[in-house]
Amino acid sequence: MNSIPYGKQAISDDDINAVIIALKSEFLTQGPQIKDFENAFANYIGVKYAVAVSNGTAALHLCTMALDVNKQTNVITTPITFAASANCVLYCGGSIHFADIEKDSYLIDLNKVEDLLRSQPKGFYHGLIPVDFAGKAVDLEKCKVLTEKYNLWIIEDACHAPGGYFVDSKGIKQMCGNSAYADLAIFSFHPVKHIACGEGGMITTNDESLYKKLLLYRTHGITKDASLMVENHGGWYYEMQELGYNYRLTDFQAALGSSQLKRADRGLERRRQIAKNYFDAFKDDENIIGQSGFVEGHAYHLYIIEVKDRLSLYNHLKANNIFSQVHYIPVHTLPYYKGKGWKNGDFPVSENYYRHCLSLPMFPTLTQEEQQFVIDKIKEFYKK
Ligand SMILES: Cc1ncc(COP(=O)(O)O)c(C=O)c1O
Repeated sequence: MNSIPYGKQAISDDDINAVIIALKSEFLTQGPQIKDFENAFANYIGVKYAVAVSNGTAALHLCTMALDVNKQTNVITTPITFAASANCVLYCGGSIHFADIEKDSYLIDLNKVEDLLRSQPKGFYHGLIPVDFAGKAVDLEKCKVLTEKYNLWIIEDACHAPGGYFVDSKGIKQMCGNSAYADLAIFSFHPVKHIACGEGGMITTNDESLYKKLLLYRTHGITKDASLMVENHGGWYYEMQELGYNYRLTDFQAALGSSQLKRADRGLERRRQIAKNYFDAFKDDENIIGQSGFVEGHAYHLYIIEVKDRLSLYNHLKANNIFSQVHYIPVHTLPYYKGKGWKNGDFPVSENYYRHCLSLPMFPTLTQEEQQFVIDKIKEFYKK
């Protein structure tokens, strides 16, 4: 059996041809592939605007910039996420706060969020960054009830969940990133994600004024749009109107993204089948103390089980060439964040989850045989 990673990209001949066409075209960057990818992605998610950027972290940074995060800004997120979901607030000088997760869904616990909101005078907190962790959609309608009450914006970190959804109180499927309840949403196109660009990211929104800011900040704060310029010296003229960055995606990355997007539904279907297989295999196994389950709308970026002796199981799988992973070390326990005052014990549900969680191989090209091998090796470990 070949080695089995926890996640990997699937590159088809169509993908390779799409990149070759882009490489042979006039534009390697700032060309037509960007708009094509943005339009196709917006259409897929069901949102008005999409802005392609160089990676998911850049997407988060541009969102915090567009929402005017500054030294006075206080934002809440979950400890069980990739560090970038919290770091983006610090990039703009703001303060990040954490609310613990729910034990079973692994998502931010909105009761804990409300406890935080109640603990300070209204106006102290400015934003919430919920994460569709592992591909399970956060109920943004419930978030919105809270954020409206306390006047907070929402950035949905949907890096794990293109194609995921939750069903709102009206029975409507709300696709992750559709901006029906959130101000902005972000995605990553890192190779282990559903859609791979190598590196890449996308921001989605229905808010035109935020969209315009994002376009400006993505390219140094520079505009070439004559209708927006203060002066105009001729055809060469551009204006830097804000302090922005170069967070652009290249055209060949966008071509790869567009080509991958065409197969996104098929990949998602396969991920859901793999999740069902794991769920069925472990549902009556007393050694598995928790698992992602088989959940409607889940995009299954990750399939997570919780076990008692995680390190031994991890090593047993590794000895069999199966490379499981742990998502995530709680952000507040990372040395940088500990240096800012957080400590072990601050968020016990997250920390307990971290002690037990293990992400099993989950990617569309995982074969039935490979998945059965993973399941057999886990069962074998507990038979000893
Ligand atoms: C939840 C989450 N947020 C943000 C990011 C950052 O994305 P990128 O790696 O594209 O910068 C990632 C990617 O690892 C992620 O998993």
